[in-house]
Amino acid sequence: MEKAATFGVIAGIAMTTGALAHEAAKLPNTPAGKAIQARHDNFKAMGAANKSISDELKKDAPDHKLVSDNAIKLKALSTQVPSWFPKGSGPESKLPTDAKPEIWTETAKFSAAANRMQVEVSKLQLLAASGEVGALRNQSRAVGAACKSCHDSFRMPRS
Ligand code: HEC
Repeated sequence: MEKAATFGVIAGIAMTTGALAHEAAKLPNTPAGKAIQARHDNFKAMGAANKSISDELKKDAPDHKLVSDNAIKLKALSTQVPSWFPKGSGPESKLPTDAKPEIWTETAKFSAAANRMQVEVSKLQLLAASGEVGALRNQSRAVGAACKSCHDSFRMPRS
């Protein structure tokens, strides 16, 4: 009885904290657990680099070095994305992941989405080196659209 009640409380907390509980979940030291953990960490780093760029570009006089450094980070990460999805690291692992099973069935479409993002990130990185702010702002939006396009098809919506 008491155990069930405690579990209910914990489940309630997990539900209210939502994404936070998801990030903090301790994943098992198995191939799928390690792949999912690494994937989350890498996407978080990608999200942080992308946000630094877009936040900086909102300023009147963006810091070019900051934009350029983060674009280099983003580019390095973007080329690795396909390797973050080994077979068995999807929802069938029963571990907390927002990766949809279609990643492993619609592989050509998934590769195209990863490729589109890599192309847009490469353009951003080249522009960051030369540094025209208007062009950088447009390209940063194109990168965001490429991220979103893959998320719309292949990432479970967060409730
Ligand atoms: C080719 C598909 C694809 C592309 C392109 C993509 N993502 Fe994702 N992203 C995913 C999937 C799938 C997940 C869910 C991963 C999981 O939960 O295991 C995800 C999750 C994330 C997360 C949440 C990580 C976490 O801790 O749960 C962030 C942040 C993120 N992506 C940022 C980005 C950014 C920024 C870009 C573009 C620069 C991008 N993504 C491009 C597929 C993609």
